[in-house]
Amino acid sequence: MMKTARAALVAGLLILMGSPVTVRSQGDGNLPHLKKQGTAYQLIVQGKPFLMLAGELGNSSASDPAYMRPYWPALKTMNLNTVLVPVYWEFLEPAEGKFDFALVDSAIGAARGHGMKLVFLWFGSWKNSMSCYVPRWIKTDAMRFPRARTADGAALEILTPFSTENMKADARAFAALMKHIRVVDSKQHTVLMVQVENEIGMIPEARDHCRLANAAFSEQVPPELVTHIRKNAGALAPELLAMWNKSGSRSSGTWEEVFGRSPETDEVFMAWQFATYTNFVAKAGKKEYRLPMFVNAALIRPGYKPGQYPSAGPLPHLFDLWKAAAPEIDFLAPDIYFANFKEWVERYARPNNPLFVPEVANSQSVANAYYIFGQHKALGYSPFSIESLEDPEHNQIANGYGVLRQLEPLILESQEKGEMAGVLLDSADQVEVVQLGSYTFTIRHEYSWKYAVRSGADTPRVGGMIIMRSPDEFLIAGTGIIVTFEPFASSGTRAGIESIEEGKFVRGNWKAGRRLNGDQSHQGRHLHLPGGAYGIQKVRLYTYR
Ligand code: DGJ
Repeated sequence: MMKTARAALVAGLLILMGSPVTVRSQGDGNLPHLKKQGTAYQLIVQGKPFLMLAGELGNSSASDPAYMRPYWPALKTMNLNTVLVPVYWEFLEPAEGKFDFALVDSAIGAARGHGMKLVFLWFGSWKNSMSCYVPRWIKTDAMRFPRARTADGAALEILTPFSTENMKADARAFAALMKHIRVVDSKQHTVLMVQVENEIGMIPEARDHCRLANAAFSEQVPPELVTHIRKNAGALAPELLAMWNKSGSRSSGTWEEVFGRSPETDEVFMAWQFATYTNFVAKAGKKEYRLPMFVNAALIRPGYKPGQYPSAGPLPHLFDLWKAAAPEIDFLAPDIYFANFKEWVERYARPNNPLFVPEVANSQSVANAYYIFGQHKALGYSPFSIESLEDPEHNQIANGYGVLRQLEPLILESQEKGEMAGVLLDSADQVEVVQLGSYTFTIRHEYSWKYAVRSGADTPRVGGMIIMRSPDEFLIAGTGIIVTFEPFASSGTRAGIESIEEGKFVRGNWKAGRRLNGDQSHQGRHLHLPGGAYGIQKVRLYTYR
């Protein structure tokens, strides 16, 4: 620990002094990377797939290591294996070209000391649309680092993405960060991935109206975008295709000629520019150290228009623009603070976009994680402001992640094979039917059962995952669900429960607890994972006539 801190300090000083530093090459073959494994994308860390049971720190917590000190053990107690930590441009480059990596090193040291991994969040040009984290020397020099403007010309506290100077300054700082991470971490691989910027988007208007933006808006749409649209017309976001078709499916023209005059066109124009800028920053970073990189999106409140919500971020209807203009960004990720969690993850989990939820309201049920790991082969799950949760030993994260940690090797193995499913139920969605192997599973919210014990008047969100272990044996994990079974091809046969046992995995080995029968399986009719806690049950099925 001491040795590591000293090495980090020396490396930091060498960079500050501008001396040549001997570094390991990027290509030690062992860098964290994304790999398509069977039917899933997985994050490979030191040669093995890794499931991020994560949490994101509140925005200001990482600016003071002393403030964070008591929270690191609490995060460990909550069974996290990964923490998402901001890196603030204002601290990283307090004076132009002078870098200070103290906070970065402190986070790496703390994570290592607690046996956890990190995902860094680059609070660079934009943080929730705004440029509040850019250093003072940028904030106070609007001539050199121009601002976005509203239609009536008012300057905003937002760097315009149309300025090359802004983009280069950000890319230089980000490259310095990635270089430093390579110097201090290319052996231990504590840092797994990096988020580039944070919730990019234009607000309070759909587009920037600064001089540079206005000039770009009257130029021709970049031919690569039109080529992308033509080539992918069959798979394009319907919103984008409709705009293009409505304006005559043109292969050239200004933005308004190609997409029509509307706030949606303003948004498309901005998305292209934000993605181009972010790609430039990511590319400069990857040149130094090629970790997986992603962007996160503030989602759309129902009924809101571009500009009312942060316009042009990495949103589902803008996927084509982000994917075409930002090939260095490995995936786009949703920050989910709305109740319709399932709908949003369904829009982000795509064959060309692995699912990671970098932010979710920490009050939402951790059953969400069971659903995305089981159903969408997600890379990770991360409630926001994780350190602020009370009762780290017993809260729902500690409980839910505790069970997921036991299952981690099996989840990763099953993601690859595709022999797994996830379910998420609430008051609006109380039953799901899943087919796995030769059985059909009907999963119901426990409150739909008349004998269920209710914890209150509301119907809580519950869920779980089913992992197939052999044709007749399944592990079912989660909370608050009741599962019944039938043969998939039911030609008069029925499925019966041979046995159910509760249990846990201890160092990868199943340790059976009670054999659940009688009242606990409703006399052999169903499997029940009671609400209020997370658990695992192993069920063996058979068929009869
Ligand atoms: C989403 C942002 O990405 C976070 O940094 C934080 O501001 C949260 N919103 C607050 O809810």
